[in-house]
Amino acid sequence: MKILVTGGAGFIGSAVIRHLISETQHSVVNVDCLTYAGNLSTLDQVSSNPRYVFEKVNICDSVAVQNVFEQHRPDAVMHLAAESHVDRSIDGPSAFIQTNVVGTYIMLEASRRHWQSLPFQQQGAFRFHHISTDEVYGSLGDEGLFTEQTPYDPSSPYSASKAASDHLVRAWNRTYGLPTVLTNCSNNYGPFQYPEKLIPLTITSALAGKPLPVYGKGENIRDWLYVDDHARALVVVLERGRIGETYNIGGNSERKNIDVVRTICALMDEANQDSNHRPHEKLITFVKDRPGHDHRYAIDASKIRQDLGWSPAETFESGLKKTVHWYLANKEWCDQAVAGRYSGERLGLKG
Ligand code: DAU
Repeated sequence: MKILVTGGAGFIGSAVIRHLISETQHSVVNVDCLTYAGNLSTLDQVSSNPRYVFEKVNICDSVAVQNVFEQHRPDAVMHLAAESHVDRSIDGPSAFIQTNVVGTYIMLEASRRHWQSLPFQQQGAFRFHHISTDEVYGSLGDEGLFTEQTPYDPSSPYSASKAASDHLVRAWNRTYGLPTVLTNCSNNYGPFQYPEKLIPLTITSALAGKPLPVYGKGENIRDWLYVDDHARALVVVLERGRIGETYNIGGNSERKNIDVVRTICALMDEANQDSNHRPHEKLITFVKDRPGHDHRYAIDASKIRQDLGWSPAETFESGLKKTVHWYLANKEWCDQAVAGRYSGERLGLKG
């Protein structure tokens, strides 16, 4: 299959492409406009493969998107391009509406035109896979899990924009018959994540001996999913998911933020015996809470497990250890990724 992947230079998108090229026979057209969080070095291990092509295109540019479809005639689309950082969405929602809502609309329309032009048999095999987030469901209390039936109740400009894009995808399936599948995942972590999100920011700041900001009391809970497990799940859904269906993807690893940060500190103490910053826990700093901060996310992934046989391979402990070691071994990558773009300052308080 020739798969058009949007956002393939991003954290999750690049993991998907590395998986597609290394572990499957599919070919990939990577459509990415290389925003601050996009980085082609995430694809160094696969970029010379003849089954991989890169197109520097913004999904909001409908003419350029149309050209990509006409030139490459994909069998499927995996739509991962998105603005993804909640704190940035609080400071500046506009890019989130553009990329996540308008960009998804443009991808859907280009996919629909392309799909309608395909011969009948190929039409049946075509898929538009929209990759989304569990944040569309809003916040959980201390009990319960998000299922595919949980009503949408997004809290941030980011999650509202992703909820809007999910609604568009379902509408294009019901109204036009576009063969869509949709996935909603929990918090991802792993190599190549831009160091603005909790886990990579904590690791890189701890390494530099900088304060480790914990919002509020650190009592908020996230359900952590190792990015390569997610990439594998996405390909399973693309290949075998049922048209029109939604699948929740989670790591079955709920942790309080403060426990995540403390575990990272302990791993850093162990890995970096000579560091002046040991014990790294002394760097933890409680800071003003995020506006509209969702208390808890936790995914019920039984549908994808039962229907498609997927389950995560990593535990949080094994995945986090790998991640910490990756960041320690790839400090240069992190320095280059943020150079001139982000210096670890607090985001999301302009609201
Ligand atoms: O649940 C899936 C979502 O997970 C994805 O859709 C989003 O794109 C992704 O960014 C992530 O959203 P979160 O807001 O949960 O991730 P973040 O890493 O920003 O924050 C994780 C938790 O840690 C959250 O409760 C806020 C807190 N936090 C975050 C940062 C950056 C801190 O306490 N300190 C920090 O410095």
